[in-house]
This record gives sequence, C-alpha cells and structure tokens, in this order.
Amino acid sequence: MRRLRPRTLRGRLTLGLVVLLTVIFAGVGLATAALLRTFLVDRLDQQLVAAGPHYAESLEHGQAENPLSDTRGQALGTFGARSADGMVTQSGVIARASGNGTSLVKLSAADSRALLALPPDGSAHTVRLSALGAYRLRAVAGDDGDTLVTGLPFEHVEDTVRDLAMTELALFGGAVVVAAVGGGAWVRLALRPLDRVATTAERVSTLSLASGEVALDVRVPDADRHDEVGRVGASLNRMLGHVENALARRQAVERRLRDFAADAGHELRTPLASVRGHAELALRRGADPHHALTRIDAEARRMSRIVDDLLLLARLDAGRPLESVDVDLTLLVLNAVDDAQAADHGDGDAAASDPLHAWRLDLPTDPVVVPGDPHRLAQAVANLVTNARVHTPAGTRVTVGIALRGDSARLTVEDTGPGLAPELAERVFDRFTRGDPTRSRASGSTGLGLAITQAIAEAHGGRVAVASAPGRTVFVLVLPITPRSAAGTAPPASGDGSSGT
Ligand SMILES: Nc1ncnc2c1ncn2[C@@H]1O[C@H](COP(=O)(O)OP(=O)(O)OP(=O)(O)O)[C@@H](O)[C@H]1O
Ligand SMILES: [Mg+2]
Repeated sequence: MRRLRPRTLRGRLTLGLVVLLTVIFAGVGLATAALLRTFLVDRLDQQLVAAGPHYAESLEHGQAENPLSDTRGQALGTFGARSADGMVTQSGVIARASGNGTSLVKLSAADSRALLALPPDGSAHTVRLSALGAYRLRAVAGDDGDTLVTGLPFEHVEDTVRDLAMTELALFGGAVVVAAVGGGAWVRLALRPLDRVATTAERVSTLSLASGEVALDVRVPDADRHDEVGRVGASLNRMLGHVENALARRQAVERRLRDFAADAGHELRTPLASVRGHAELALRRGADPHHALTRIDAEARRMSRIVDDLLLLARLDAGRPLESVDVDLTLLVLNAVDDAQAADHGDGDAAASDPLHAWRLDLPTDPVVVPGDPHRLAQAVANLVTNARVHTPAGTRVTVGIALRGDSARLTVEDTGPGLAPELAERVFDRFTRGDPTRSRASGSTGLGLAITQAIAEAHGGRVAVASAPGRTVFVLVLPITPRSAAGTAPPASGDGSSGT
C-alpha cells in the first residue's frame, strides 16, 4: 500500500483530485440511476393500474388456441393471465397492435408458480418470465373466484437505467481523465515557485559554512509573491540574510582575534628586543650597567602594562561577572580630571606661565550614581580624560560633563583639539589602534585604552561612542543608572578635584 503513495507533492495532489472526483461522480451516478429507476417504476405501476384487469378478463372468454381476447386500448407487450383453483388457465401477450393481436405464452413451471404466488391485492411485483423476460405484474381477484394477472414489460426500465449508467460512466470517466491530466499540469505549474524554493534550499545546504570566507549570495526568486510560497521564499531569504550577517560577523571576529594575537606578539617583541639589547650591552666590558638597567626596568614596566591590559581585556571578553556596587560617577570624574591636571603640570615646564590644558567641568549638583565596579569604571573614565590630555596640543580646552538622559548617565569628554581622522575614528575602539603608531609607541601608548573603555562600558550594559571634527572631539560614555542614583544615597563627592578654567 505504501508503495502506491506518490513520492512527490504534485503526485499526491493529483491523486487526491482524481480520487475525490471519482467518489463524487460515483455518488452522483448511483443517485441519478436510483432516482430514474424509481421514477420509471412508479410510472409503469401507474400504467399498470390504468390498464386494469381488462385484458386478463378478456382471455377468459376466448379459447386457449385462438383466444378472442379484447386488445383494444391495451399497450403492445401487455401480458395477461388467469388462474383458478391453483392453476394458470390462460395466458397471453399482445404481440400486434391491430386485430386480435394476442399471442399465446408458454409458461414454465417456475413461471406458473411465480404467477400463482402473486397476492391478489393489486400490488405490483417484478417477475422474470422465461419466455418474455422481466415483467411488472399485478394480480386482482376476478368476479368468479379466479385471479386476473396483468403485466407490462419491465425491460424498458432496465434498458433506460442501463443507458443512463453507460452514458454517465463514459462522461464521468472522461472527466476524471481530463482532470488527472489537466490537474497534474496545473499543479505542476502552481508548484513551480516551490520547486525554486527547494532548489535554493538544496543549494544552500551543500555550502560548507564551517570556516573561511563564505559567499552566501543565493536567494529565492519570486519572494515578492503574496501567496504561501512567496511567504516561504521571503522567510528563507530573510533567514539567509541573517545567516550571511552572522557569518560575516563570525569572520570579522575571527580576523580580529588573529590580528589581536599578532598585534600582542608584535607589541611585546619591541620592548623584549630592547631588554635583550640593553642586557647584552650591560654584559660588555666597560659599559654603563646603570643606564642599561634603567632602560630594562622601563621596558619591563611597559611590558607589564601591556600584559595587564591584555589580561583585563581577556577577562572582560570572558564575560566574568564584575563587582556591582553604587559608584559615584561624579567623584570618578573629579578624580580623573584632578590626576590629569597634576600630570599636565608634571609634563610641562613648571616655570611656564600659561597652563597646558584648560580643564572645565560640567556636572549636575546631585551626585550621579551608577551600579558597577568602581576600579574598572575609574579606569574607563581615566582613559578618556588621559586621551584628551595626551593626544591634544597645549592650550586645548577639555570639558568633562555628566548629564542624566532617561535611565542612563552620559559622561562626555569634549576637547577643542585637532580631532581624529575619519578612518581612525571608525576603528579607534579596536585593539592596538593608534593615531601614529611609530611615534605613539615611543611615547608609551599601546592603543588599548579605548578598547578597554569600550569593553568596560559593555560589561556594565553601556556603550561608548565618538564624534570628531577638527576643533571639537567628543567621547561619550553611556551607563545605565541605578534607580536610587537620583535620591543621592551615595557618599557625597569631595570637591577637591573641581577646577576652574
Ligand atoms: N581626544 C583625542 N583627540 C585626538 N585623538 C585621540 C583622542 N583620543 C584618542 N585619540 C586617538 O585614538 C588613538 C587610540 O586611543 P587609545 O586610548 O585607544 O590608545 P592610546 O591612547 O594611543 O594608548 P593607551 O591609551 O593604551 O596608552 C590614539 O592613539 C589617538 O591617536
Ligand atoms: Mg589612551
């Protein structure tokens, strides 16, 4: 049975159509044949009643061989018989239309038995007579104790019903064949878009998406149709779009990871090379060991800083939970600016009359408190403030502000320096990205500061962004605030770091 089930959807739909039509046609055929038969039998019975027992009565008066029966007004083929005392005494059939048209009928024993068995109550019965075929017979009681049987041929009814059945069979059979061929073609046409969806899905399934560059540019055509197939196609296309995005992102992550490892190696190689160089120098006879050791110490510190930064990034990447206490952001800003000012003075010529940077604060009166890790957040803020000091020339004005926006705090560090080149601004949060690699490496910058700030912001559910143009560069650090922050339950900010212009 299983073998007979078509394997394709098209086959199943066509078969379903054919089976359905066959069932409907069979029902219609049987019902019409039954109705027609009932109608014809009813009419025959009416004719039988209308004819009455006259013909059978008239047989009684004639002789058996040449009955002078009365055939007037009787239909051709009318059968008559008379029985008395359990015997059929006369029987005849009207074989000709004119004159005495009666022919004698030879009845077999079975015929006689069937005739005698008819109840004489005027009801009609179908009986098959051996000489005449099927007849509709009706028996009534005669005047003198005999029984009069009248019959009309039944074969008309059977022939007509058979004709109808044959006609219907031919018509319905033809219709089913046409439906099978036409329906099959139509279903094939209607399912063609689905075929294309299936082809696309098969093509995608053969692509190896595990690694390397993947061009996932296959798409289902006619996904703009407004039917089910269109919806499936559109969904598949959307899904392919998502997969393509995910693959592109995965590739980018893979590339970044590779670059990161290479960059980290490269960054550590430079100080290591100078450590080795200075060590060799120190070992030479006559060299100044003090100078070499000072350089080695400086390079070792630099390496520890890089390693610490890398470890911190790795920890943040791993998504380990951070400490979460109430952190007063205002206080962090005050401390960071304070430190920057001190560093400014340390860098500069103490005798110079004008300050190196002009520092300004733009803070709300109430402390702004965010949930988080105080050390990490301090580091994030310090990185932004330090950048504004280190990467801008003397005389630059730096404004550090905090504003509450909805349920987040926005910390901005704005400077009037030359800003970042657009291509640098795009990837300034990537690891080891520096404005001028050679010069800034010499000045001790690693290009990890903003990457760390971004990782810290994201670990706190926040983000960091930059907008830069010559004369105005703004770094924004957005952090979600605690509901309590506005209530001022945090320890009050000490005002020692505040600064005038
Ligand atoms: N306020 C700014 N104005 C101009 N350029 C900036 C500013 N802030 C950052 N940059 C540029 O972005 C680069 C990346 O900054 P980032 O803090 O990530 O690294 P870095 O400061 O060079 O090194 P590190 O912070 O690790 O010591 C800097 O090298 C600098 O060129
Ligand atoms: Mg920096």
